Amino acid sequence: MQIVESILGLRGQIKTWRAEHQTIAFVPTMGNLHDGHISLVKKAQTLADKVVVSIFVNPLQFDDKQDLANYPRTLQADIEKLTQVGCNLLFTPDNEVMYPQGKDFHTFIHVPGMDDKLCGLERPGHFDGVATVVTKFFNIVQADVAVFGEKDYQQLLLIRKLVADLNLPIKIVGAATVREDNGLAMSSRNQHLNEMLKQQAAALYSNLLELKQQLESGNQDYSALLAQAHTQLTASGFTLDYIDIRRAEDLQLVNPEVDKKLRLLAAGRVGSVRLIDNIACNLA
Ligand code: PAJ
Repeated sequence: MQIVESILGLRGQIKTWRAEHQTIAFVPTMGNLHDGHISLVKKAQTLADKVVVSIFVNPLQFDDKQDLANYPRTLQADIEKLTQVGCNLLFTPDNEVMYPQGKDFHTFIHVPGMDDKLCGLERPGHFDGVATVVTKFFNIVQADVAVFGEKDYQQLLLIRKLVADLNLPIKIVGAATVREDNGLAMSSRNQHLNEMLKQQAAALYSNLLELKQQLESGNQDYSALLAQAHTQLTASGFTLDYIDIRRAEDLQLVNPEVDKKLRLLAAGRVGSVRLIDNIACNLA
């Protein structure tokens, strides 16, 4: 696997591959890779001839400086995992490469309809930071296709909207969430959980599954169902940011008469660790 730190170096390799008529898939990450990330790389390998992965802890998308400082950086282990799975190129720019203007970086991409709901409310500026860095990466890598996890469902929709609105010539593919044996969605944050908290954290997924089952069996009393899930999750040790039932297509509030494709989403803290999860729910 090639490891490239500069934009010039990356563009050189992309140019060579293009001259050889190779197609390119891209998987952006912030490193500290786990099986969820690796599943995206495997999916990318089925979609194109060459796979580029980026590792960059993007300061623009952290509203909390401490969170940014604490973000786990495990480059050597990440390189081993990517080499083993057969990734072709790892792009590891630093802040200087991505934001050479430093504090004078003023161009932002803002995707409407994201800051006012769910994770957007909890993390001001976060989605602008994601949209901006992903647009920069798309322009740098110029891949044919990019793979994003459904684990960050709001992020996946944001990227789809960004690509559609700005006519970016890239296809966006979503990949299913990879989970631990107890159902907990894999996340870099899980390593901050001890065994007891890990067991508690699994309640997030099991409550979403229970909510899905209730909805799919015809229960339409959303507020009672959500109140029940809220109570159960609180009893399991969660401090919830939200649990909600939304339209899958755009995360707007559901009109039960017409909307059949729903997304059930939740976020909250166990101990001091913030976790998110979501699942699909399709009504007949
Ligand atoms: P990061 O949190 O490192 O995630 C990189 C990609 O891995 C995202 O598309 C995310 O949805 C996916 N992912 C994370 N956990 C997963 C799991 N358990 N199963 C499947 N996929 C999973 O998301 C980001 O980085 C950043 O916001 C980024 C897009 C790189 C922009 O900085």
